[in-house]
Amino acid sequence: MYSEKVMDHFQHPRNVGEIENASGVGTVGNAKCGDIMRIYLDIDENQIIRDCKFKTFGCGAAVATSSMATELVKGKNINEALQITNKAVMEALDGLPPVKVHCSLLAEEAIHAALWDYAEKNNIKIEGLEKPKTDISEGEEEEDY
Ligand code: FES
Repeated sequence: MYSEKVMDHFQHPRNVGEIENASGVGTVGNAKCGDIMRIYLDIDENQIIRDCKFKTFGCGAAVATSSMATELVKGKNINEALQITNKAVMEALDGLPPVKVHCSLLAEEAIHAALWDYAEKNNIKIEGLEKPKTDISEGEEEEDY
């Protein structure tokens, strides 16, 4: 059901933890499944993401997608990080079962929320970044799980 990469990132998640005095922190949840993800970004003066850590209270796919998402954003600048979609995270993990696609959305939104926090703290605007939702199930159509 799960790819080897998903299992690897679930069993050995990369970048777990917190960053003290992070440049940006984003927390998002999905009220339907109750899962919560928090992403911390350390961004340098050239707007490059030096470090990224996460804490996820959620299912295995949410842990694996947060782990992969942190790996993907590290070393990128904030505009490149904004372009990382849940699809890119899923592809990097060699796919997710259809019922677990929403878990990868948490990762995308948590990155956006952390970038938003960074932009607000620094009084800048990141082109193309919209105010993230704290609950990604809001406005979603009813789905069967
Ligand atoms: Fe909700 Fe995975 S079941 S994030």
